[in-house]
Order: sequence, then structure tokens, then C-alpha cells
Amino acid sequence: MSLKDQLNIQKLPKHIAVIMDGNGRWAKGKGKFRIFGHQNGVKAVKETAEACAEIGVQYLTLYAFSTENWSRPKDEVNALMELLVSTIRKETKTLMKNNIRLEAIGDINDLPAKCQRELGEAIDETKGNTRLTMILALSYSAKWDMINAIKHIALEAKEGKVAIENIDTAMVDKFLSTKDYPHPELMIRTSGEQRISNFLLWELAYSELYFTPKLWPDFNREDLYQAILDYQQRERRFGKTSEQLA
Ligand code: IPE
Ligand code: IPE
Ligand code: MG
Repeated sequence: MSLKDQLNIQKLPKHIAVIMDGNGRWAKGKGKFRIFGHQNGVKAVKETAEACAEIGVQYLTLYAFSTENWSRPKDEVNALMELLVSTIRKETKTLMKNNIRLEAIGDINDLPAKCQRELGEAIDETKGNTRLTMILALSYSAKWDMINAIKHIALEAKEGKVAIENIDTAMVDKFLSTKDYPHPELMIRTSGEQRISNFLLWELAYSELYFTPKLWPDFNREDLYQAILDYQQRERRFGKTSEQLA
């Protein structure tokens, strides 16, 4: 039986988040420049998104560029921004064909104007699509997002719109850039690194974490199914005991 056939469709995660890591090492292993790895990461993005849409995952958040990634060599940053522009331009029609809605989280104002424009147009064009929402985390870090939320809540408190004792988890959720999406049940990181790297710190509080040594450009739909199967075999207790769940 294929991996896909083994999936329990009733128990699919609604939202999968991915730290797409290992592009640089993939390229280095082939004696190429790092950007060659990023370019080859695009097909893994396409395959993952299409597989998610096909099986019925509703949200896919992809960590594409972190706040910290701005500190990389200028050439690499520029090449990544160019790749973003050209990929969006080329792939918007595929998103339309596959009924995928594109969204973005992060400090989008920090992206070059051309990126913002291209991204904005694709978001607008795909906004009526309903099969899968693909969220690109760009110039994103969870601490950036949480500081924004804290500032907003502090302002509401200062203006008397909220009493401090009423600040709760639902309110924090409401002020994060991820407010429109359920929290991811599953987080996948490729490349063997086992860390969160400032990704969705709040939203991952009870997510199942899955780490694979595969480098991102090699990640394919079978790897995705494998991760979901692993997830489906876990018992999610949310602090309770096994007996309580039964
Ligand atoms: C992930 O691959 C892509 C981005 C962070 C933009 P890396 O570029 O981090 O690849 P490694 O980790 O150096 O191999
Ligand atoms: C995390 O990867 C960010 C993205 C995948 C966009 P990094 O390669 O930047 O993470 P660290 O710095 O090695 O943890
Ligand atoms: Mg990396």
C-alpha cells in the first residue's frame, strides 16, 4: 500500500507549518553556489503545496525568509528577493489552476518594493481560491510578531479599551499576524536541524514536531506523507492522561 493510501483522511492536520531548511548545504554538496539550492527549493514548495491541496490540508505555512536572514551576505539576500519575485510571477497561474490562495505574514514593508508589489498582486489575484491557503512567512520572526501584539494590547489597555485582567490567550491570538489561521497541528523541519529558529513560537505551543534529515530541495510528496503518518501515530494529550482521552 502506498504511503498516501495509508493516510487517515479523517485525522489530517488542518494546518502544517514547514521550516524549509538545507538549501545551502544541498548546493554545496553539488559543488554549486548557495543560490542554486534556493532555486531548486522551489520545486519542493510546489510539490508540497500541491500534495497538501490534493489530500485536503487547509493551511500550509512556509518559512521562506526570517528576520535573522537579513544578516546573510548581501548577494544571497538580493538573489533570494529576485527569486521570490520571479517565482511569484511565474507561478501565480499554477496557484489559480490549483485553487490555492496565497497569503503572507511578516514584516512585508521591509521587502524591496518590487517584491511587495508582486506579492500583493498574487495575494489579490488568488484571494478567492478555496482549496488550500499557502502562507509565506517573509521577513518573519515569532518575536517580531509577538512584540507587535504586545504593543497593540498595551495601547488598548492605555486607551481603556481593555482591562488588564481581561488579557487572555484569545486576545493574544487576535493580535498576531496568524490570527486568521488555526494553530498548526504539525511542524516539519528539514535538513536535520532540531530547532525552531524564531518560527511561530506562540502558535507551536502544542504542535507535533517532525524533523527529517532530508535537505529541502530533496523533500517530496512521499516525505510529506511520511511526516503526516508519523503525526497520525502520536497521542496528543494536551496535558491530560491517556486514560482521559479514551
Ligand atoms: C533555507 O536554506 C532557506 C533560507 C533560510 C532562506 P538555508 O539557506 O538555510 O540552507 P543551509 O541551512 O545553509 O543549508
Ligand atoms: C530558518 O532557517 C529560516 C528559514 C528556513 C527561512 P535558517 O537556516 O535561517 O535557521 P538557523 O539560523 O540555522 O537556525
Ligand atoms: Mg539553514
